[in-house]
Amino acid sequence: MELPAFDMEGHRGARGLLPENTIPSMLLALDLGVTTLELDVLITKDEQVILSHDPQLNPAYEFLPAGEAVAAANNTYTWYDLNYSDIRKFDVGSRYYEEFPEQQKLQVHKPLLSEVIDAVQAHVKERKRKPVLFNIELKSEPETDGKFHPRPEVFAQLVMDVVHEKQVQEQVIIQSFDVRIMQAVHPKYPHIKTALLVENSDSFETNLQRLGYSPVSYNPWYKLVTPALVADCHQRGMKLITWTVNTLEEMRHLKQMGVDGIISDYPNLFRQL
Ligand code: G3P
Ligand code: CA
Repeated sequence: MELPAFDMEGHRGARGLLPENTIPSMLLALDLGVTTLELDVLITKDEQVILSHDPQLNPAYEFLPAGEAVAAANNTYTWYDLNYSDIRKFDVGSRYYEEFPEQQKLQVHKPLLSEVIDAVQAHVKERKRKPVLFNIELKSEPETDGKFHPRPEVFAQLVMDVVHEKQVQEQVIIQSFDVRIMQAVHPKYPHIKTALLVENSDSFETNLQRLGYSPVSYNPWYKLVTPALVADCHQRGMKLITWTVNTLEEMRHLKQMGVDGIISDYPNLFRQL
C-alpha cells in the first residue's frame, strides 16, 4: 500500500478531541477521514507492545488505578517496570487536560498495539472505507535503553512481531527519532516503510548520513520545513511529512510549500484544507 498523494495523519489518533493513543481516539480520527493514524509505542515489563507517548505516568492527564492524581514530583510509575495487566488499570482519559481544553473526557486505558490494529481494521471494514496506514513511532532514546524501553533490536523485533501477527506489513510505517531503531528494522525488513523523525537543526544530508539509507519519508518538525527541504526530499525520491500542525493557516502554508502530508492533533481540520 503506497502513501497517498497527500497524507492526512491523525496525531496520536485525534488528540485534540479525545484522549491520545487510545482506541476511541483512533476510531474518531478514522471517522474524520484520515489516511494514516500516527501512534506511539512502548514496551511493558512482560514485553507487550502498548500505546503510550510518555515512558512514565503523565500527571498532566493520567490517573492512578484508584482514580487519584499524582503530583509530578512523586511520579514513580514507569510503564517498562510494570506488567500490562497492571498498566491497564490506569485511567488515561478522565482528567481535564489543560493543553487540550476541547478534548472530550472518558474513562479509558492504554491499549495494546494488537488491540488497536484489530479495532481499526474492524471499523474500516464496518464503515466500508479504504484501509488506512499505521504510522507507528517507537519511543526510544540511547540514554534510556534498559530504563524506559529495551535496546533497539529487541524493541523493533517486539513491534515487528505484532505487525506480522496482524498481517499489516503493507499498512505500516515505522518511524523514530532514534536512528538505531530504523537501522534495526530496515536491513531485516526492507519492504517495511520507514520514516525518519527530525527535530534537530542539522542539515538534511547530515541526518540522512547518520541514518545510512533513504527512508520512504523524512518527517521534520513543521518549523523546520522550507521549500528547499521539500525539494531535497523529492530529489531523493522521498516524501516529506510534517508534524504537529494544529491550525488551518499553518496547514495551508505548509501545503503551499509542497509537503506530502501533515500530522495533526485536530484531524477535523483536514476537511477544510
Ligand atoms: O509523528 C511525529 C510526532 O508525533 C513526533 O513527536 O513527541 O508528538 O511523538 P511526538
Ligand atoms: Ca509520536
